This record gives sequence, structure tokens and C-alpha cells, in this order.
Amino acid sequence: MRTGVWLVGARGSVATTSIVGALALRAGLTGPTGCVTELPELRGPALPAFADLVLGGHDVVATPLAKRAEALAAVGVLPGRLVAALPEELAGVERELRPAPGDGSQADRAAAIARDLTDFRDRHGLARVVVVNVSATEPAPRPHPGHADPAALRAALTGPDDVLPPSSLYAYAAVTAGFPYVDFTPSTGLRLPALRALADAHRVPYAGHDGKTGETLLKSVLAPMFAMRHLTVRSWSGINLLGGGDGANLADPGANAAKVHSKQRVLGETLGYLPQGDTRIGYVEELGDFKTAWDLVTFAGFLGTGMRLEFTWHGCDSALAAPLVLDLARLTAAAHAAGLSGPLTELAFFFKDPLDTTAHSLADQWTRLCDLARRLHGGADAPPS
Ligand SMILES: NC(=O)c1ccc[n+]([C@@H]2O[C@H](COP(=O)([O-])OP(=O)(O)OC[C@H]3O[C@@H](n4cnc5c(N)ncnc54)[C@H](O)[C@@H]3O)[C@@H](O)[C@H]2O)c1
Repeated sequence: MRTGVWLVGARGSVATTSIVGALALRAGLTGPTGCVTELPELRGPALPAFADLVLGGHDVVATPLAKRAEALAAVGVLPGRLVAALPEELAGVERELRPAPGDGSQADRAAAIARDLTDFRDRHGLARVVVVNVSATEPAPRPHPGHADPAALRAALTGPDDVLPPSSLYAYAAVTAGFPYVDFTPSTGLRLPALRALADAHRVPYAGHDGKTGETLLKSVLAPMFAMRHLTVRSWSGINLLGGGDGANLADPGANAAKVHSKQRVLGETLGYLPQGDTRIGYVEELGDFKTAWDLVTFAGFLGTGMRLEFTWHGCDSALAAPLVLDLARLTAAAHAAGLSGPLTELAFFFKDPLDTTAHSLADQWTRLCDLARRLHGGADAPPS
């Protein structure tokens, strides 16, 4: 089942790490550490093999993919030996990258995106193409009447003004051309009533939002523990310091607000109340793609006795995100092949701000994900690794 993975933001850190990782897995140069679809509970015949993934994408910058990969290797995000071993494979993906369409009305640009997607599918004889947004986080868009109604949206897109933020324009182009869409970012993407109606009308599956790779991953394990032990969380404050393109972009207050919003849901919806405190994000260029998150939790036990928990997380963001991007592409492709459409709420396991579900506990999300995998595999046992 040859399956396309179309990365929006294809020359960024997460995309480049996903591409190098997929090529290295296909060449047998690395193992699938971090890819949850290779665990016995999820592996199975419905998922496209890594060797069947064909990669392409859009970006607004033209930095050669090989240069981007070398830069990531130089700072320790990727092993340099893998980048050095895959020059032809990287050149092959480079040929599948397209500039983000920038001319004409948004309707013209959406048509150009859809053309790039169908050409990619037809050129490679792909069963399907999953579009995955890993581009820079955007601020929330200004409201527009077209956001609520597909017909009004279609008409507004032909006008001179930009009605949709880029993530939503890609989502519009993808779903109206029949391609599944996954949003790994906190941007708006498909989260507009008009776009969801269009996705439903075109019977495509979609998933999001905002990959859960660090501080929020820990919150989704620790907050259920406090709830299950009937301990009262009085405050939960966190600071995330990061560099890289994502960090630089999140220095923008609008993008920062979108990210902070998606990080906050887990506590309120897991505990049933919102403790004091907030999550802050700071840009430290020196840290590059390596993030430090420091959290302080104060909580009360029996008789009101006060206690505290502190943790520090040092993660390499792209190395944590890239295997999940490949997992999401494989699972969404399998869901599409099985005829599923609408929001794939069982993929909440992967997201900070999951669509249409308040299940935030990682353990509950894992159970639901395993159920989905079993259904997709039709009850077939996972093949041996
Ligand atoms: N790394 C993680 O752990 C993680 C976790 C959750 C979410 N994310 C999200 O993933 C996204 C990517 O992160 P990154 O570290 O790769 O960032 P990055 O800055 O390295 O890459 C973003 C890429 O998007 C491109 N881009 C910007 N606007 C575009 C447009 N309109 N069309 C096409 N491409 C466009 C940029 O040119 C750049 O190449 C961010 O939104 C980030 O918040 C990352």
C-alpha cells in the first residue's frame, strides 16, 4: 500500500527529522525507537510499511533539505552518519518538495495546493496521501462569516482578502480534494465549522491538534495520578525554554498564545478544576531544538498537608516529534483505507489539544488507540517484528 505523506512546512526541523527518519528506517539504518506503531499492541497488516511511505511537501523557504539535515546533525538532533549515508534518498525527496503557492486569490492558491497533491499521488501511483501540517505555529485568525458556512467560505476565498490562515487553507485544499489531514501544530487548521463540514461532506478522516511530546505528555500522566489518589493540586506552574525555528516563532505573542492555550486543557479537564498557575514559553536561541521544561506543582493531601513536586524535562523536540508524525501518517492512512471519516478521536494519544474528546489521561488514550488499531487490523494478530 504505497502511501504519500505530504508535509506542510517540509523544510522545518520536525519535517526534516521525519524525512531522514523515514529514509533511514526504509534503508534499515536505524530502528523504530519512538515509533509507537511498531509496538506489538499497534503493529499489524493495516498499516503501510515504512518502506511504502513516499514523502513530499510544501514550504515557504527553499533551503535545500540536505543542508537542513546537515544543520540538524551539526547540533546533535540527527546522527550525522545517517545524513551522510542518504544523499540520493534525500535528493529524491527534494524533487518532491514544492514552494507554497503565493499568487492569486486564496481560491487560486487552494487549487494550486490541491494540484500539487493530486500530481504527487498520480506520479507515484499512491493509494492515498495524508497531509500533515508541521509548519510554523500561527496566531488565531480574525473571525470571518465564511468560517461558519462552506458556501460563504467558497465565495469569500475568491475575493482579494485572506480569509483563512495558511494552516486552514492547506486543510481546505486537502479535504476538498479528498485527502486526509493531520495537524501536528496548535494552529487553526481544520477547526472551523465550514472546514469540518467540508471534510465530512468529502468523507475524509482528520486528526489534531498539537503534538504532545514534552511537558504536556508528563502532565497527562501525572495529573490523572493526582486525581486517582484524590490529592488536591493547588498550583501547577511551568516554564518552557526553547530555541530553534519553533522557539523563534513562539516569541511572537499571537503564536505563543495559541501554544499556551493548547497546553492548558489537560489540567482542567483531567482534574475537574483549574489549579493556580500558568504555562510560559521563552525563547533561548542557544538551546536550539533542545527544550527545557521546569514545572512546580504544589498539592495537598490528608488533613490539608501541603507537599510539592518539581520536574525538569530536557527533550530534543524534533527527535520526540518525528516518530509520532510517521505514526500519525500510518494510522490515518489505515483509517482512510478502512473507510473511516470525520475526527479520529482515538488519536488523542498524540495530541495536547485533541479534537472532540476530553480524554486527556495518557493511559485512557492508549487504551482507545489500541482499540482503534485492533479494529483497523480486523482482529488480525500483529506480525512478528
Ligand atoms: N517539535 C515538537 O516537539 C513539536 C510538538 C508539538 C508541535 N510542534 C509544532 O510543529 C511545528 C513545526 O515545528 P518545527 O520545530 O519544525 O519548526 P520550524 O520553524 O523548524 O519549521 C517550520 C517550517 O514551516 C515553514 N512554513 C512557515 N509557514 C509556512 C507556510 N505558510 N507554508 C508552508 N510552510 C511554511 C517554515 O519555513 C519552516 O520550514 C510548529 O508549529 C510546532 O509548534 C512541534
